[in-house]
Amino acid sequence: MLTAYDYSLAVLVAKAGIPVVLVGDSLGQVMLGHASTLPVTLEDILHHARAVVRGAPGCLVVADMPFGSYQISIPEAVSNAVRLVKESGAQAVKLEGGADMAPVIAAITRADVAVMAHIGLTPQAVHQLGGYRTQATDLAGRKRLLADARAVAAAGAFAVVIEKVPDTAAAAVTRALSIPTIGIGAGPNCDGQVLVAHDLLGLFLDYTPPFVKRYARLGETAIQAMAGFASDVASGKFPAPEVPRRAGRRVRARRRSSAT
Ligand code: KIV
Repeated sequence: MLTAYDYSLAVLVAKAGIPVVLVGDSLGQVMLGHASTLPVTLEDILHHARAVVRGAPGCLVVADMPFGSYQISIPEAVSNAVRLVKESGAQAVKLEGGADMAPVIAAITRADVAVMAHIGLTPQAVHQLGGYRTQATDLAGRKRLLADARAVAAAGAFAVVIEKVPDTAAAAVTRALSIPTIGIGAGPNCDGQVLVAHDLLGLFLDYTPPFVKRYARLGETAIQAMAGFASDVASGKFPAPEVPRRAGRRVRARRRSSAT
């Protein structure tokens, strides 16, 4: 699974053969420049999810439920989950939380909306957790993680993201569940893996979590390309005088051939 927040990247993710696309609330930082995911609204996710669905029609598109859209009451959570699926075309929603969120997951799945759960480090709870720390590092934490995993699976989640926990804790959850686990910073023993696409492409330069592998440095390539454009414009190398003349000849030739 990879994140995408717009049409163009969704097209690339789909062409790369990635089966699941997450319209993550990480768009708060990556797309909107916020310091965390907390300010992201339902309208933000809807706006981006519609574009991703248009770009990746053959993928399973999962829309993140933003902070505040499912914590206040179960009817509001169900109504917001239904809105996300109905108005964006995404096939599933994702929400953060373990045993405490099980009744919410059960209610949303009863309304026929597929739910992906998210346990371990849950970034929407950053202030309660005291930072973006590794979770389940002691015995009590591991027991809590396992209980959370079992609770979300029993509530009807079809898959669960496990974020930033020790490899052995994620492995224990994966062994215990019959639904797929998708890890991020949780070691190799999950059923699948997820990353923020901008991180693996090197397109988000503010910071890179330690568990990310950078497969490309597209940010640097883009800066070089744009600086090249600026310097060509300043020096008069672009546009070259012959560019519009050639394009004009092609258009005239096409017009002539369609007239005969
Ligand atoms: O919002 C997001 O991108 C996520 C992934 C990191 C799992 O929740």
